[in-house]
Amino acid sequence: MSSADIYREIILDYYRNPRNYGKLEDADVVVRDSNPLCGDEVEMHIKFEDGKIKDIRFNGKGCAISQASASMLTEIVMKKSIEDVKKIGKEDILDNLGLTNLGPARIKCALLSLKVLKMGIYSYLADKVGEKEEASKVKEDANKLY
Ligand code: FES
Repeated sequence: MSSADIYREIILDYYRNPRNYGKLEDADVVVRDSNPLCGDEVEMHIKFEDGKIKDIRFNGKGCAISQASASMLTEIVMKKSIEDVKKIGKEDILDNLGLTNLGPARIKCALLSLKVLKMGIYSYLADKVGEKEEASKVKEDANKLY
């Protein structure tokens, strides 16, 4: 089995058995976005505590890459500090999925959830913590993803 096959299997496994799938009743923020090219959606429910992501769930509909990427991302950021989560970039997500040569449409599939997560952090920092300047930087990062 080549490493590409292994990554494909992992993506399919996350797609069929999504981790952290669902909603949080007590979420501080609920954010969603869609891939403008196909209409697929990712929604994230995030609960923060002491500068960390205390709990996170996602739901949505779409291709295996967008949904597996969202599921993996929830595992990566669970219990992490906002500071660490802010540093996660495009390359981290693509490496994690084992995807390197994606065309522009598929890149959006892979990065949709990171964009949603960053918008969630933006919304939390701007509306709940009142750190408008820091929040704007996160929003800028999100908008640069694609
Ligand atoms: Fe829609 Fe991948 S085809 S997000």
